[in-house]
Amino acid sequence: MKPVEIKDGIYWIGSVDWNRRNFHGYSVSHHGTTYNNFLIKDEKVVLIDTVAEEFWGNLQCNLAHALDEGQKIDYFVINHLEPDHAGCLALAVEKYQPEKIYTSPMGQKAMQAHFHYEDWPVEVVPTGSEISLGSRTLQFIETRMLHWPDAMLTYCPEDKIAFTNDAFGQNWATSERFADEVDRSRLEELMAAYYANIVLPYSPVVIKTLAAIGEMNLEIDMICPDHGLLFRGEEDCKWVFDKYIEFAEQKPKNKAVIVYDTMWHSTEKMALAVASGLADEGVSVRVMCMKNNHHSEVMTEVFDSAAVIMGSPTHNNGILPLMADMITYMKGLRPQNKIGSAIGSFGWSGECVKVLTKSLEDMGMEMVDPVKVKHVPTHDTMKQCYEQGKSIAAAIKEKLA
Ligand code: FEO
Repeated sequence: MKPVEIKDGIYWIGSVDWNRRNFHGYSVSHHGTTYNNFLIKDEKVVLIDTVAEEFWGNLQCNLAHALDEGQKIDYFVINHLEPDHAGCLALAVEKYQPEKIYTSPMGQKAMQAHFHYEDWPVEVVPTGSEISLGSRTLQFIETRMLHWPDAMLTYCPEDKIAFTNDAFGQNWATSERFADEVDRSRLEELMAAYYANIVLPYSPVVIKTLAAIGEMNLEIDMICPDHGLLFRGEEDCKWVFDKYIEFAEQKPKNKAVIVYDTMWHSTEKMALAVASGLADEGVSVRVMCMKNNHHSEVMTEVFDSAAVIMGSPTHNNGILPLMADMITYMKGLRPQNKIGSAIGSFGWSGECVKVLTKSLEDMGMEMVDPVKVKHVPTHDTMKQCYEQGKSIAAAIKEKLA
């Protein structure tokens, strides 16, 4: 795909990774992703971010298309050092020999630790710094922990454009470049999945950072994240900012997720009975077996749910390994404002429900009493699970009131 001129003299020169399914080794991206990076042609020519190393050929090709005959790149701006954006940095420094490489204070540390460079022309640009390109200015705002310490936002006031790196991204490989060219509900879904699996633990930082940006009164009519679609026009820019505030506030919906694993289907039967109790009380329910769902898919559903019910049989005095994986993953993402409960079958020692309950309590969830069943559920214990679903539904109603 050729470079796209997104504003006069500003080009998208990114790469579309149609086949990416494993994103960063911990989440799935069913629709691929893009690595967006940009070129600004002014009196000084600037490359903003690079792409994943495997797209180095593509980046060189895009630069050859976008640069004028004999034109050199004067500056690099590196907003984030994670390898999906800085993967070509060493190769690009060697090939294009920039006069300066601008990055945040933490970016400089990360750059040194990643590339062990000796003589790169790195210049640190803390929040408030700016550089002139000739007719344009670039201003820098550190966005620490969104989602790495080195992250920064680059803003060009003359063009009202913000290069936001990972913030506002979505994993979606498309031939379209702008959010107004694609289906909005899918865009929102993929933005939420990205937020739930990458940005969620930093939600307090999102709120603080967006408030600080709001106080700066920056005029923004284009937002360019480094993954997925770009946002143009004041209305879409406001939409994406508002969406992030909504995501960061983590207000739960009338929805519950039952996530479980099962050996001989007893815990599964219990899960289905709990689901019936919830659904019969008007709660939207997702039933997700860890054998059929990736932990990142479960997390996307947990993100806007009011309740999380975890189920596992007792296995070797603990829980099944896929549930341990889910707990570790979910705990790291620090979901807020949830009701929790546990279910599980057992043969003799029966620790499952205790282990699950402790994990959910450790995540700060308000707990509803668990249900534990010996070997195979009976009509009575299935009824107990159904009633547990109803109790969770009542707790959700109270929470949302
Ligand atoms: Fe898209 Fe934090 O890398």
